[in-house]
Formats: sequence, structure tokens, C-alpha cells
Amino acid sequence: MTRKSVMARPGLVLLLLLSPLSLQPSSLSQLDNTEGKATLGGLILSALERATTFLEARLPEINLDGVVGFQALEVQLRGAQETWASDPLLQPLSLRAGHLADKLAPLLHRSITYLKISDPEYLREFQPSLQPGFWKLPHTWTHTNASLVYRWPELQDSFSEDSSDSCLVLLLGTGNTSSQPCGLSDFCRTLMTKPGCSGYCLSHQLLFFLWARMKGCTKGLFSRSQHYISVFCANMMDLNQRAETIRYAYPIQDLFMENIMFCGIGGFSDFYKLQWLEAILNWQRPQEGCFGVPAAGDEVRHADPLYQQHALRRVKRREKQFTDGCSSHRTATAVAALGGFLYFLAHQPLLYTVRQPSTPSHGSMTAAPLDLLP
Ligand SMILES: *[C@@H]1O[C@H](CO)[C@@H](O)[C@H](O)[C@H]1NC(C)=O
Ligand SMILES: *[C@@H]1O[C@H](CO)[C@@H](O)[C@H](O)[C@H]1NC(C)=O
Repeated sequence: MTRKSVMARPGLVLLLLLSPLSLQPSSLSQLDNTEGKATLGGLILSALERATTFLEARLPEINLDGVVGFQALEVQLRGAQETWASDPLLQPLSLRAGHLADKLAPLLHRSITYLKISDPEYLREFQPSLQPGFWKLPHTWTHTNASLVYRWPELQDSFSEDSSDSCLVLLLGTGNTSSQPCGLSDFCRTLMTKPGCSGYCLSHQLLFFLWARMKGCTKGLFSRSQHYISVFCANMMDLNQRAETIRYAYPIQDLFMENIMFCGIGGFSDFYKLQWLEAILNWQRPQEGCFGVPAAGDEVRHADPLYQQHALRRVKRREKQFTDGCSSHRTATAVAALGGFLYFLAHQPLLYTVRQPSTPSHGSMTAAPLDLLP
């Protein structure tokens, strides 16, 4: 981030002051105090309140994927509210989280009315993910394991929205023919366990197993859900670290936040890095409260391999770009990622781990053509 953007947001100066703590493991406990939690929690809540104002203003135009992110946020807010309620010093924060969740609930309810008109079939197929109680948050935490990173990842993000959707519909049991959840075809088994995926292919493989877990699918392939979740998140961590190395050059931010959203919900606390929180907070548009294309002057590197890999992946109904540059999908992933930070903050001190280039991750792609390093 640039100095200019730091100056524009006095609140973030504090984060920067805290950042050097990340260099020493012993400092993990230094922020494990009420004051630090309250400060960071307040910053995150301010961002989420602004984003909710955006949701409210554009409600009729927000697509389903946008609503899903805010649905996950509501659950995260309730979780934080509950945990903080028992600490007298954090009660104001608890009330604030609860107030925001109370504001979100009727908005989300109303949004379904709009989706019924704008995209009825997609809504029917994915309505379970909008239902209260669908999103379940972790109660225990783990770390990604770098030895699970693919040695030879695919050079192209092979994500196909239609294929991925059809497998999710089978899983949810919302198709025209199937009515039982936990459905799985041979095609979907192959697609969702295929090794070597990158980008959105990877994050949708993870989403598939996360939803399987939330739906309570435990038989057959799903008895190995945790194994696949661990493999996918290890690779998503690798991608996020490389995204950080190229300073989150547009348009990787969308996928970067999606990875934090999904793997955080998957219980991988090492995605909750202070410098990543700082980056995301910095991408919010102060006027609209949304997340979207960067303001003019921000770095856009079309020649970057990461750009070529991912620029054209977000397509069709999943993405909704407003004329002012706000993005429905990007705002949704941002709020669910930030909500994850808040939920984690309520349960643990933030992790401040930084990259350790001296530790070569065994599957690291540093020699591969899609290397993100400049
Ligand atoms: C990481 O994964 C490897 C390979 O599956 C395994 O041998 C190792 O024990 C794991 N490490 C941790 C800390 O879980
Ligand atoms: C399900 O039925 C609807 C309405 O009859 C139809 O438009 C849609 O294409 C069908 N979907 C699938 C996956 O067959």
C-alpha cells in the first residue's frame, strides 16, 4: 500500500504501528488484550457498517452471490456478538455487532424477493445457502500444511461455472430431479477432487466440500472431506502469499479475499494475518462502502501472468459490476472475509505471522511458468 492511502485513513496508521509486532512470535500475546481487540474490532465493524449501507442502497440490484456473502457475515457477527457479550469491557463491541446483524437480517430477507424476480432458477437452486443456519463456523482452528502444496499446478484456471454449479446443485439436492442432499455423480467426484487446480477452480472445489460438511454429508467421498479441505486450503494459502508478493495487483484481490473467506470458514486461522486485514480494509471505497475495481492510478498489470489467469474467470451471473465500479461479488467476498477476521478476533488473538521466504515450501511454484513473483 502507498503512503498516500495510509494518510487517508488515520485508523490504519494504528494497524501499521502494530504490524512490526508480527515479526516476533513472542508478540502474539501482546495484542491478546482487550484494548487491542476492541480497537481492531471497531475498525472492522466500521468497514462492515459501511458495506451494509451499500447493500441497503443497492438491494434490488445485488445478485445472489452478493447476498450469500452477507448471509455468511450475519452468522459471523452473531458469533462475535455472543462471545463478546460475556466480557464487560467488550460489551459495547458486542452490542455493535448485534446491531449490525439485526440490520442485516431483514435486508437479506427482502433481497430474496428481488432475486425471485431477477433470477428465479438460480435462486431455487441455491436458496439453501441463503437460509439461516446454513453457514456453520469453526469452533476449533488449525493451520495450513505447506507440504500439501501441488508440485505441478495447472497453468490455467480451469474453473467452469456451469460444471461447478451443477455439482453444487446435486450436493444441495435442489435440482429438478434430485431431492436428497449429498448427491454426487462420477463427473462431480472427478471434478471436485482433481489435483492441480488453481484460482477459482480451487476455491470452488473447497466450497463443494465446505458445503458438504455444512449439509452433514459424511458418507463415501465425504468421509474424506477434511483431507480435501486441507489440500485445497494449503494451495489457496500458497496463492495468497504470492498475491501478497505482487502487492495484490488487480484483479487478484477478488480471489485473494474469496480464499480468506472460504478457508477461514474452513477453520484455517493462518489466513487471518494482520497485513491481509489491513490490505482489505484499504480496498474499500470510502464513499460507496463497496469493493470494486481500483481507483484510477492504482496498479493494473495486464501483463502479469496472474492477471491473464484470472481476469476473465469471473463471468456471467456470478459477477455484477455496477457502473460506478462497485462489484457485487467483490463486496460479498470482502464482507465475509472481514466478518471472518471479526469472528476469529472474538475467539483468539490475531495471528501476525509473516512470510518466511527462507522456508521453502516443498511444493512451491517458484520455478513454474505461472509464477506470480515479478
Ligand atoms: C503435513 O502433511 C504431511 C503430508 O501429508 C504430513 O506428513 C505432515 O505430518 C503434516 N504436517 C503437519 C504439521 O500436520
Ligand atoms: C429445471 O426446470 C426448469 C423449469 O422447468 C428449467 O428451466 C431448467 O432448465 C431445469 N434445470 C435443469 C438443470 O434441468
